[in-house]
Amino acid sequence: MAQQSRPHIILASLTLAGGARYPSALGHLIRTAAVAAYLANVLELDDAEQRHIYLVAPVHDVGKLGIPDDVLLKPASLTDAEHEIMQRHSNIGADLLAGTTDPLLQMAATVARHHHEHFDGSGYPAGLAGEDVPLSARIVAIADAFDAMLEPRVYREGMPEDDAIDTLADESGRYFDPTLVECFLKNVSGVRRVRAAAESLVQQYGDVSGVIRFYAARGESPAFLRHIQTLG
Ligand SMILES: [Fe+2]
Ligand SMILES: [Fe+2]
Repeated sequence: MAQQSRPHIILASLTLAGGARYPSALGHLIRTAAVAAYLANVLELDDAEQRHIYLVAPVHDVGKLGIPDDVLLKPASLTDAEHEIMQRHSNIGADLLAGTTDPLLQMAATVARHHHEHFDGSGYPAGLAGEDVPLSARIVAIADAFDAMLEPRVYREGMPEDDAIDTLADESGRYFDPTLVECFLKNVSGVRRVRAAAESLVQQYGDVSGVIRFYAARGESPAFLRHIQTLG
């Protein structure tokens, strides 16, 4: 297995910590990261950018470590007040990752802080709009939202895939960057394939070994994408 550098170990550990916070969290984190990295690849971002998105995306929700159980694990929809508490996970996660000069961890902090911003400025925590929302966060936002829509909750079923795709299209330019929505819609079969590979990685190896393999598959080039596709 490839030697892991210190930032990778930190990110893998935080992924596992966040993944242990509630049932099924880890699958969401890894699937979201795989789809985000796939979109970065389709967008032909440079190799380092693709790799970094892959590595940091799993910690986007790490701030949920700081959300109390009665909100995080509530088996029903949240009240407005509870939503406000839940929304704190963006800043909690970013603050947990900030305070380092390591560029990878800085990018992880950026994604944690801004993955719930909306393209029209109506999101949180900063209300950034358009290209003021860092590209990495815009990419993770769409991958995150898609996965969240498909996932069942205790109080609702998962949305059928076609409906989730329609929702992304409807929210293009409002919640999501229209360029990224277009890219997503043109590559739905690839998204499906990568998401399934990420899912089977966790299913097949379990949380700890799945995350170690996910981080070991980072590669030094977009070859990691082929790698994760074959892991399934
Ligand atoms: Fe989140
Ligand atoms: Fe998420």
